[in-house]
Amino acid sequence: MAQYYATLHCSQYPRTCVRITSSSLADSNCRTELNMSSTTKESSLSGLYAMNGGGGQYSYAQNSSYQRGVIDVAKPVIEEGIAAKLDISHLSSTQTSTFRIADFGCSTGRNSFPAIQMITQAIEKKLITEKGLITRIPEFHVFFNDQLMNDFNTLFQSLPPQINYYAVGVPGPFHGRLFPKASLDFAYCSCALNWLSQVPKDVADHMSPAWNKGKVHYTGAKQEVVKAYSYHYAHDIKSFLEARAAELVAGGLMALLVPADPAFKSSATSFTTPTEIDLLGSCLLDMAKKGIISEQKVDTFNFPLYFTIPQELKEIIERSNSFTIERMEILDNPGKRTLCSAKARATYLRAVFEEMLTNHFGSEVMDELFDCYEKKIAASPHFLDPDNEKSIIIFVLLKRKAE
Ligand SMILES: C[S@@+](CC[C@H](N)C(=O)[O-])C[C@H]1O[C@@H](n2cnc3c(N)ncnc32)[C@H](O)[C@@H]1O
Repeated sequence: MAQYYATLHCSQYPRTCVRITSSSLADSNCRTELNMSSTTKESSLSGLYAMNGGGGQYSYAQNSSYQRGVIDVAKPVIEEGIAAKLDISHLSSTQTSTFRIADFGCSTGRNSFPAIQMITQAIEKKLITEKGLITRIPEFHVFFNDQLMNDFNTLFQSLPPQINYYAVGVPGPFHGRLFPKASLDFAYCSCALNWLSQVPKDVADHMSPAWNKGKVHYTGAKQEVVKAYSYHYAHDIKSFLEARAAELVAGGLMALLVPADPAFKSSATSFTTPTEIDLLGSCLLDMAKKGIISEQKVDTFNFPLYFTIPQELKEIIERSNSFTIERMEILDNPGKRTLCSAKARATYLRAVFEEMLTNHFGSEVMDELFDCYEKKIAASPHFLDPDNEKSIIIFVLLKRKAE
């Protein structure tokens, strides 16, 4: 029953036109077409990049075993969560009901498909074992969301041949509304909520005390920079939760897998994703010193990513007041053990950051940048031992409160 549609949603970019055509599906390099008004300011371009598309050497599809590890470790807790907490009473009233699931930040699908399969199977199991509540399994409608620039063509082309759902692409930033009110039964989001909607404005403003001169992220930066990132993160998660609160039915569940830090400081022998980003930033600074890129280019670039800590995330969710926290725990990502060589570590970051870095610095410096990163990793034995990677994944299962 494999079927797919493309849904267009452009309310946040009113002057943006997105077209996904069925004929373009024949070309795996063909991307969502985008026409921006010439008056669009650079700051509003945030979010107009995505993971590397297609299936080539540096594609996200070929270099996301780290993120796949998150799904593997989360599988039992999501299955338990669905078995214990999913409210299926509203599905019992009709024989033809539809169960709607959305994956927010699905990329090109390689990790999203097994996650959706696991979720639909757990829901079916729940429906079958809860005797008397329902006699028939509903049809599943699955919405794959990601940024406008995401390679949805690769996603549609890679859909497994035997799927038990109808698939839909939903392009657009997930910090705003993407679905009609009370239209989703289950929301899922893995390894995407560490992406900010944009770089915090003050960090890029040379008049602000939070100007992040000479750095490209908050690791080791002054307190004002860390605060600006943290503040922006809280604002973004609030917006995400507000949008999902409107879209989910009362009692609907949301499973979040949030890349995070165990604490803000890491020791000299351990590292986390922010430390890796800092190392990549040091390569940009080296290249500026050599005159390969301009210092001004480095000063005007910051990664729009933030890695929360468990208490901070809990407080943001509790403030939102629309969801109850049904379960929250820290998971250790087994996917990190798939990145054993310096090359694998460099390619994993390249698949994620290349498009954004190319937009700012140009494609001609990408080989040199990631070569530099690979060399720095290879020269640092502690980066090569996956057990020194101390990033965590926060699993949160939320239930939409009744209004
Ligand atoms: C590291 S990938 C994770 C992909 C997939 N969930 C997985 O587990 O492999 C993060 C994804 O989130 C998407 N993303 C980031 N910010 C987003 C936003 N504001 N709206 C929609 N998608 C977003 C990125 O484009 C990217 O595809």
